[in-house]
This record gives sequence, C-alpha cells and structure tokens, in this order.
Amino acid sequence: MRVNGVSFRSIWYDKEEKSVRIIDQRWLPYEFRTVPLKTRKDFAIAISDMWVRGAPLIGATAAYAIAEEMAFDPSNKNLESAWIQLNETRPTAINLRWALTRCKNALEILPENARAVAAMNLAHDIAEEDVAMNQKIGMYTLDLIKKLVVKKPNGAPVNILTHCNAGWLATVDWGTATSGMYQAHDAGIPIHIWVDETRPRNQGGLTSWELGSHGIPHTYITDNAGGHLMQHGKVDMVIVGTDRTTASGDVCNKIGTYLKALAAFDNDVPFYVALPSPTIDWTVTDGVKEIPIEERPALEVSQIMGISPNKKLETVQITPLGTETGNPAFDVTPNRLITGLITERGIAKASSNGLMSLFPEFKGKK
Ligand code: MRU
Repeated sequence: MRVNGVSFRSIWYDKEEKSVRIIDQRWLPYEFRTVPLKTRKDFAIAISDMWVRGAPLIGATAAYAIAEEMAFDPSNKNLESAWIQLNETRPTAINLRWALTRCKNALEILPENARAVAAMNLAHDIAEEDVAMNQKIGMYTLDLIKKLVVKKPNGAPVNILTHCNAGWLATVDWGTATSGMYQAHDAGIPIHIWVDETRPRNQGGLTSWELGSHGIPHTYITDNAGGHLMQHGKVDMVIVGTDRTTASGDVCNKIGTYLKALAAFDNDVPFYVALPSPTIDWTVTDGVKEIPIEERPALEVSQIMGISPNKKLETVQITPLGTETGNPAFDVTPNRLITGLITERGIAKASSNGLMSLFPEFKGKK
C-alpha cells in the first residue's frame, strides 16, 4: 500500500543494503520509521517487542529470520535452535510456527551449501503468497459489501466495525479484514469504518492511519462503544482478523474481539473473520481450552504513549503506581457467534464441515 504516495510493504529485502527491512510499528501512527533486521536476535526482538505484529507478518518475518540464519550458519543444529528461539517469541499467532516449520521441513532435506539461497527464496514465496491470499480475501469481502450496499438508502455508506489492526501493516500487504475495505473504496462503493481503539496497544491507531492514508472515511471509537452502536443500527457488519483459528472454526484474535462478537450476535449484525489459511491450526478444535493466550507485559497497560501538546512523543503512567495489572493479549470467539470465515478459497461456515469443504486436503490431519 502507499505511504505519502510511495508504495510500501510491511517487510521487504533491500538488495542494496543486503538485509531485510521492516516498518518499525512501535512508532506508528506518529512516526514512520523503517529499520534493517540482520541477526537472529534482531528478528526475535522485533517479533516479541512488536516492531512487527499481526499473525501473517509475524510468519513472514520468521521466514526471513531463518533465511538470514542459513546464510550465517546452514547447519542442522543452527536450523533447529533458530526454530526453537523464534517459535518462543510469541505464543498465540500460529502463522509463526507454520512458517518456521515450513522452512525447517524444506531446508533440512537440502545439502547445507544449498540452504541459504533456498531459504531466502522460500521467505520471498511466503511473503508473496500472503499478498495473493489477502487480495483474494478482499475479493470475497467485496462481494459481501456489495450485497449490503444495495440495502442502504440514498447512497448511504456501509458501516463496518473492525477491532485491532488486521490491515496491511499486520500482513505483508492488503491486510485481511481491511483488504475488502480497500477494494470496495477503490470500486467507488461508499463505506465507513468504525475503528476500535484496541487497548492496551492501540492497534486501532494503526488501522486509522492506514485507512486515512487511503482516504477511507472512518471513525476511531473506544473499545466499549461497539455494542451501543450496534443497538442503534449503526453497524452493518463486523470484520476482524485472527491470530489462530481452530479446525472447528473457533477464532482467537486480539483481546476484546469476543465481546464484539457477543454484541453482534445479540443485535443480528453479521460477524465475519478474514483469514489466510496459514492462520488455521488444524491440530486444535476447542479454542478456549487449547489455544495458549499470551500474557504481555504489565507496562503495556499501565503506561500509554502519545503526542503531547508540545508535539513530543511521550509515555505517561495511567494507573496508580504499584497497581496490580493484567494483560491477556487475545481471546477466543466460539464458532457459534461467527457468521462466516473469509478465506482465500471463499467464505466458509465457522465449523469443521465448513472449513473442510474449502480445505479437503486437511481432512483427518492433526
Ligand atoms: O498482538 P498483535 O498486534 O500482533 O495482534 C494482531 C491481531 O490480533 C490481528 O487482529 C491479527 O493478527 C489478525 S492480522 C491480519
């Protein structure tokens, strides 16, 4: 997507610099900074400290980390230890384990001297595949938006609520939940997005920045506003992303997603989840019981960063000093609350049968 008229992806290989570069998302939406990642430690910190974030982007970053590791030391021992260290950086987003395992399986059968080139090609493939999957997800989302717009009076916009940032910054490009928003806007369909703030990391600020850069009308709201807006008919549809979806269609996503799904269910508002298939964990069925929920540092809750009146980027304490603080980063929305899962192969019912109808090759695979 474009930043001040220049095309960017969230991660890329800089041929001149001979290193991977990312948009350092810690500073957004206030400052746009890019940084190179060179060593395994750089990559591990970038993932765990959320310089990069969002399940698909985390997966692509891990693949590039393996590629750089193979250029440094292509031995089995190094491949194994890189897999372990990187896999521990974030526990919930399954794309991380998916990408690492795909790289490991492809590389360990190759002679060591062929691994560096193969690993970099594979990282590029994973990145390109993510872009293509998200573009297709956007096409299916666009069909849903088209069905809603004809029901709106006098060219009124379709109001879509989204939680967290499932935009191009959370993927390699396009985004998952946002892909259809970009495609609808580009097709001239009037849309308006309710952007949840998404405390404590305020990923809504990233969504707002993205949508604003693309000229999409949107309103930033507190996390508690969605239910009220739905009660008053101001939300036509909810679309969120996911960090891990079970084989039975339970959806794990940023904390607060479950409450939005409950409110949508109670108000008959369609609740869709947009996901590229690497986000499906075919080994688990009960999301609430089986998906590990990341507990993130307390400082993310007790402090907040923003621009002060004198235009300085500052961090302030917002809780009484010494207050006990909890920070579960994700929650699970049971499949019964979900209208549909928008994948690159079409829209599935959030159920085992629904997913199997689109991905029959995973039948019986654990
Ligand atoms: O903790 P984060 O910022 O990595 O979590 C991101 C989300 O929860 C996204 O909504 C999810 O990864 C879907 S991304 C397309």
